[in-house]
Amino acid sequence: MRVGFVGWRGMVGSVLRARMTEEGDWSAIDPVFFSTSQVGAPAPEVGRPCPPLADAHDLDALAQLPVLVSCQGSDWTRQVHGPLRARGWRGHFIDASSALRLKDDAVLLLDPINGPAIDAALDAGTLDLVGANCTVSLMLMAVGGLFARGWVSWVSAMTYQAASGAGAAQMRELVAQMRDLGEAAAPLLDDPAADALAIEGRVSARLRDPRHPTAALGHPLAGSLLPWIDAPMADGQSREEWKAMAEGNKLLGLNPPVPMDGLCVRTGSLRCHAQGLTLGLNRDLPLDVLEAAIADSTPWTRVIPNQPEPSLRQLSPAAVSGSLDIAVGRIRKLKTDPRHLGAFTVGDQLLWGAAEPLRRALQILRKRGLGA
Ligand code: HSE
Repeated sequence: MRVGFVGWRGMVGSVLRARMTEEGDWSAIDPVFFSTSQVGAPAPEVGRPCPPLADAHDLDALAQLPVLVSCQGSDWTRQVHGPLRARGWRGHFIDASSALRLKDDAVLLLDPINGPAIDAALDAGTLDLVGANCTVSLMLMAVGGLFARGWVSWVSAMTYQAASGAGAAQMRELVAQMRDLGEAAAPLLDDPAADALAIEGRVSARLRDPRHPTAALGHPLAGSLLPWIDAPMADGQSREEWKAMAEGNKLLGLNPPVPMDGLCVRTGSLRCHAQGLTLGLNRDLPLDVLEAAIADSTPWTRVIPNQPEPSLRQLSPAAVSGSLDIAVGRIRKLKTDPRHLGAFTVGDQLLWGAAEPLRRALQILRKRGLGA
């Protein structure tokens, strides 16, 4: 299968290449790597000979390929996708960005949850295959089993989103902020007699110091949090919050739509998004039945017992980072109503939230003999 890769050098693209190497995917793929800035430079090492980097703005070169995979971002997609289609290119376009997500003729990619819908779309000739928003994908990987049974009336997701979702520079800056705060506190930390409030005073002063690094994130994140993600929308929602209902319902093919809303917050984890979920169910079911339905969401969904030690050990970004596991725990009936279910979930934003659905889309196309 001949595949063009654009945006393979960034964080999502790097995770995608690493996963393809881990799974031995390159043996069945003849890649052409594109670049917006280093045309003619050697391609990355994938264990097979590849031509030098092609020009990611050269429509003739792009149109020669039956499959394109982009982790480049919405701007590039908006620049090239329309012109490629306008000149009659009928290849499959697999995109990580949000640019095409809500187009009627684009299918969202999360095959453990919507595999039949992806198959039906490909049968019908759909050519644009788009990864969904990471928060939406991770939520559905966690509790898709409840939606599949038709038990969910509404859901509210309160998110704790990793710096990686904002970008590589932001993730790097989070660690630089941690170092800067650590350095500000170091003399007192090293003095066993120094009290905690004195240390806090140093750190809080540094958070507000103009020398504290905030060029990428805009504000302190380490030692703080950012209660707004992406652009403002109508009714006080942020765009990240708006995506839950728009993309969640599209991905699940729900009509009438299930209301989904919550507050999205950036926290100081590196690459795992966590979400505190409240699910409004349309019936009062025993907890063990609900837990079994959640565990059945996907083969990667892991139910963590609602006890302190397993929750603290297994249900955190520290535990889940770098793994395909989707941890779901703190599952309990809330006191507000017997049909209100609480749960907490953690998933790697760069894996199931971004790269893995794209990798699996290539496998789906390959199994169908497409892209030859
Ligand atoms: N919008 C997400 C975030 C990134 O800001 O965390 C991936 O969809």
